[in-house]
Amino acid sequence: MRVILIGPPGAGKGTQASRLSAKYGVPSISTGDLFRARTKDPNDPLGAEINRIMKEGKLVPNEITVKMIAERLDQPDCKNGFILDGFPRSVEQAESLDKMLKEKGIRLDGVVQIGVDDEKLVERISGRFACGKCGEGYHDKFHQPKDPHKCDKCGATEDPANPETTLWKRRPDDNATTVRARLETYHSQTAPILPFYDAKGVLKVVDGMASMDDVTRQIEAALDPKEGVKKPAPPKKYG
Ligand code: AP5
Ligand code: MG
Ligand code: ZN
Repeated sequence: MRVILIGPPGAGKGTQASRLSAKYGVPSISTGDLFRARTKDPNDPLGAEINRIMKEGKLVPNEITVKMIAERLDQPDCKNGFILDGFPRSVEQAESLDKMLKEKGIRLDGVVQIGVDDEKLVERISGRFACGKCGEGYHDKFHQPKDPHKCDKCGATEDPANPETTLWKRRPDDNATTVRARLETYHSQTAPILPFYDAKGVLKVVDGMASMDDVTRQIEAALDPKEGVKKPAPPKKYG
C-alpha cells in the first residue's frame, strides 16, 4: 500500500498514518518527525537551522527535504509500501516525488486529503501531547491516556522522583503564533498540490472533522479497490 496523507496542521495525519501503518504493515514516514529527530543534537548546525525554520512555521528547503525522503524510501522496509505523512507539501516536492516514483516504477494507491476547518485545528493542536518515550500521540480532550501518568502504548510512566523529566511532551511549534504561520504555509504552498493529484485521478477527500475512528473508516473505504474510482463528495470549504 502506497499512500500520501495531505492535510493542514492538526488535521490528524500522524494519528491516521499510525493506524494505516499498523493495518497495512508498511512504515509511516513523517517528514516533521524526521526533522524533529534531526534537531535533537545542539551541536548540529543543520539541525539548528531546521529548528529555526520549524519555529517560524515555514517549509524546510526542498534540497534537504527531497534528499531525506529519497534516502528514506530506499530503505528495505519501504519495499512493500509506505504511508507518507507531511510530504509532499509543495508543487515542487510533488513533482520531485513523482519523478522518484516513476524511476522506481512505483504507482500510488491513493492521495488522501484530510479536510478540517481552520478553527477546529487550533483546538486540536493546542490540546495535543505525546509520550516522550514512544511518541504515541494524545489529546487533552479527544484522546486521553487511560492512566494520566502512563502511556497506553509503551507502558512508560512518569517518574515522581524526577519531576523535571515529565513523560508527556508538547511540541515547541504548537504555540498560537507558529500555528497561524503553519496554517498560512499550508494554504499558500501545500493546498496547491491537491489539483495536481486530482488531475492524476488518485485524490480521495475525507471529512477530517469526524471522530478519529470515523476518519479511519473513511480512509480505508477510499483506499479499498472494491470502492472503484468512486470519490467521496468533496467537503465545501477545506483549503
Ligand atoms: P509536521 O510535524 O508534519 O506538522 P503539521 O503538518 O503541522 O501537522 P501536525 O503534526 O501538527 O498535525 P497532524 O495532521 O499530524 O495531526 P495529529 O494526528 O497530530 O511538520 C512540522 C514542521 O516540519 C512544518 O511546519 C515544517 O516546518 C516542517 N516540515 C514537515 N514536512 C515538511 C516538508 N515536506 N517540507 C518542508 N518542511 C516540512 O492530530 C492533532 C491532534 O488532534 C492530536 O492531539 C490528535 O489526538 C487529535 N486528533 C486527531 N484526529 C482527530 C479527530 N478526528 N477528532 C478529534 N481529535 C483528533
Ligand atoms: Mg503530525
Ligand atoms: Zn509511550
